[in-house]
Amino acid sequence: MTEQKTWSQRFESALHPAIARFNASIGFDIELIEYDLTGSVAHAQMLAHTGIISESEGEQLVAGLEQIRQEYRQESFHPGIDAEDVHFAVERRLTEIVGDVGKKLHTARSRNDQVGTDTRLYLRDQIEQIRVQVREFQGVLLDLASDNVETIIPGYTHLQRAQPVSLAHHLLAYFEMAQRDWERLGEVYRRTNISPLGCGALAGTTFPIDRHYTASLLNFGDVYANSLDGVSDRDFAIEFLCAASLIAVHLSRLSEEVILWASEEFAFVKLKDSCATGSSIMPQKKNPDVPELVRGKAGRIFGHLQAMLVLMKGLPLAYNKDLQEDKEALFDAVKTVKASLEAMTILLKEGLEFRQERLAQAVASDFSNATDVADYLAARGVPFREAYNLVGKVVRTCLATGKLLYDLSLEEWRELHPAIDEDIYEAIAPHQVVAARNSYGGTGFEQVRKALDFARSQMTG
Ligand code: ARG
Repeated sequence: MTEQKTWSQRFESALHPAIARFNASIGFDIELIEYDLTGSVAHAQMLAHTGIISESEGEQLVAGLEQIRQEYRQESFHPGIDAEDVHFAVERRLTEIVGDVGKKLHTARSRNDQVGTDTRLYLRDQIEQIRVQVREFQGVLLDLASDNVETIIPGYTHLQRAQPVSLAHHLLAYFEMAQRDWERLGEVYRRTNISPLGCGALAGTTFPIDRHYTASLLNFGDVYANSLDGVSDRDFAIEFLCAASLIAVHLSRLSEEVILWASEEFAFVKLKDSCATGSSIMPQKKNPDVPELVRGKAGRIFGHLQAMLVLMKGLPLAYNKDLQEDKEALFDAVKTVKASLEAMTILLKEGLEFRQERLAQAVASDFSNATDVADYLAARGVPFREAYNLVGKVVRTCLATGKLLYDLSLEEWRELHPAIDEDIYEAIAPHQVVAARNSYGGTGFEQVRKALDFARSQMTG
């Protein structure tokens, strides 16, 4: 191939090979190629539409760009490091295909508005895909919750047994988090979906372009109002990384719970063979690798968010080459969040089984019904704080004698307080303890059923 200089004739000698490698982004921004082609097609059509180039030139450019798309899809387009980046690679190949008219494509455009356009088109697509995945994850949570409204699980604060809750209530807490994630991604989408195309290098262009035309061809919701802002804004990427980080936080919290639940100490869930791995040395082990990896991968996503914030904080307007560093962070965060969502969805769907007998045993063998005795007394006129102190005393006696609250005789209860009756036993049974928390948003079964219905209705949005 004849040596074709990428930049103007101002340069007398070629780049040092190591510097060329250092400078090049083609190794990773090839990921943007389909978006680059789509953006360029719209730009070429706009150039023809406004009369900046002729109709026939516009058609030749579009045909050439579509040919490159085919070549790429057939895996016969392999630009090397000398192309520097995906934008140059496409323009160079276009000129090979259509001849000199290819050199007209870059009229009234810069790589700065071009790369901004590509990145937004890419992220827009990815956000849509991730939202679908969040919905799938929510669907699995809903199915699992529907099956477990009356399954009771210990509820914790400070990782100490606190009050029993419906397992569905617990799972629906994650549904709510995922719902916010889904909504948040929608917000990020709105601010990602703005066209910088036509902002030029930084100041706009001398050509009579039509930015709204390209924006509408590319289905952008709006155009950047300020060219300097348009080429240098990466807020949308940071916002996405925030949204991805929160998804990762939520998945990681759930992972942590699954890991605990799968331990012998809790033994609330059994991991199925399809989603667990063994140890190379300890034959008895079954490891929760999936949730552990999801928990671990969260760190990568937070790292990309941090990197992106630091990348931006000192940048003067407008474009600076530092911005080339946005891509790997974004690409890796996208891949990581998608892989984590997929893995957790599979894990919940078919990788674990709640051990009903263990859960029933767990909630029947602790003092997580102590609040209910206090509530029982308070409902019979004993001031809550006084009732609380009385129950504390009885729990202490029980602990000393190895008894549970259920084990106390009616006489013993009456000694504690004469207002206590036979119905105390029902009041402190796990099922009733859960059912009684019928306040809005609480774990009472009636509330949980309503919450499930509402959650289902949100899935259609
Ligand atoms: N590869 C570059 C990037 O990713 C494209 C934009 C280059 N612009 C420039 N003025 N050098 O940011």
